[in-house]
Amino acid sequence: MRKVIAPAGPVSGTIALPGDKSISHRYALIASIAEGATRIRNYSTGADCHSTLGCVRALGIQVEGGGTEVVVHGRGLDGLRQAAGDLDAGNSGSTIRMLSGILAAQPFVSRIFGDESLSRRPMQRIMQPLAQMGASIRAREDKFPPLEIAGASLRPIDYALPVPSAQVKTCVLLAGLYAAGRTTVTEPVRSRDHTEIALREFGADLAVERRKITLVGRPKLTARDLAVPSDLSSAAFFLVAALLVPGSELTIRGVGLNPTRSALLDFLTGMGANIRIPTLESQNGELAGDIVVQHSELRGGTIDGALAASLIDEIPVLAVLGAATEQGLVVKDAAELRIKETDRIHTVVENLHRAGIAAEELPDGMAIPGRQKFHAAEFASHGDHRIAMAFAVGALAGDGASVIDGAEAASVSFPEFWDTLASSVR
Ligand code: S3P
Repeated sequence: MRKVIAPAGPVSGTIALPGDKSISHRYALIASIAEGATRIRNYSTGADCHSTLGCVRALGIQVEGGGTEVVVHGRGLDGLRQAAGDLDAGNSGSTIRMLSGILAAQPFVSRIFGDESLSRRPMQRIMQPLAQMGASIRAREDKFPPLEIAGASLRPIDYALPVPSAQVKTCVLLAGLYAAGRTTVTEPVRSRDHTEIALREFGADLAVERRKITLVGRPKLTARDLAVPSDLSSAAFFLVAALLVPGSELTIRGVGLNPTRSALLDFLTGMGANIRIPTLESQNGELAGDIVVQHSELRGGTIDGALAASLIDEIPVLAVLGAATEQGLVVKDAAELRIKETDRIHTVVENLHRAGIAAEELPDGMAIPGRQKFHAAEFASHGDHRIAMAFAVGALAGDGASVIDGAEAASVSFPEFWDTLASSVR
């Protein structure tokens, strides 16, 4: 699908966004192995979270509803049944990596596969700890999906994550639910902690001491009534749109503001962004609030070290913004970008070049000088949702009509993106 994006007047009004993708996956997975019916409101409409629901259904879990409200009828830790066929994770790294932690503990063999993009993404990072716990996993070329997971009776481990990855942390913690004893995971830097919060909500015994998480196996998990805050990573596209286009003032309702995710807001305000959070509340242990953003002249900055890990999903749209700042944007320590849905260092820089923006590809990031004009062009999503949306936002500040090729990719996390964009620009 090709979308034409014309330069826009101010981005304004009040918008609501789909539920957080990371939290939705976790609620669906944990609800499946809890006892009883968990109602989840504002469940993500993104295709990725529906891949997770499809997988748990295939494993014998009844899921009512398919829109933003779902009821997952959990059957307890030992209630999953062997799927009749292969499990389809679609485009979703979260689905395959996190669900594998549960599959590794089942008394049956599972096969799980994904689309072309997911089939190129590395899985050793979960295969290694799960093997240490006693599971037996086969993969294409020993590292890529499809995975064939022969579940086993798992033993607890003490695991130091070699890469900062919330998906891997979650995989080990979910497997740890099935291991008698204490499983510990130590992270190199603190990654998003939705799993820890959700596991506690469902009744797991879990302690967090700085970067070390300890979980006691075989808990009784109990169904909950849950509401998912809106996705800050989806809000990022609208924050940047409003910051870029003069005269903009936008309110985004009920956005997830978990401190392990909200580095984005600190980074933007640190560059001079006018952002306010007039309301803040706690929902099932997760912070959420409204965000008000106004067009702002920004200084530019550097994303490196732990900040690069915290902002990893937002870097494509921050790169688009970076070119419009005074001093530009440098991204380092972000080699993980190369193994996302696309090689995002390459796909971002390639599309920036199409916009006539000077940008240099670095092995672990990119360098984008400031004060550059975004020229209208044809952009390629390469099937990557965040690339499609990032360049649509850039096109709002273009000097003519741009085209986003492969615009349908946005549905992976944000199917309403194009309508929300059309309704918020003048
Ligand atoms: C996610 C973790 C991050 C992030 C992804 C969602 C999660 O991936 O990029 O979009 O929900 O845990 P990694 O675990 O690979 O860092």
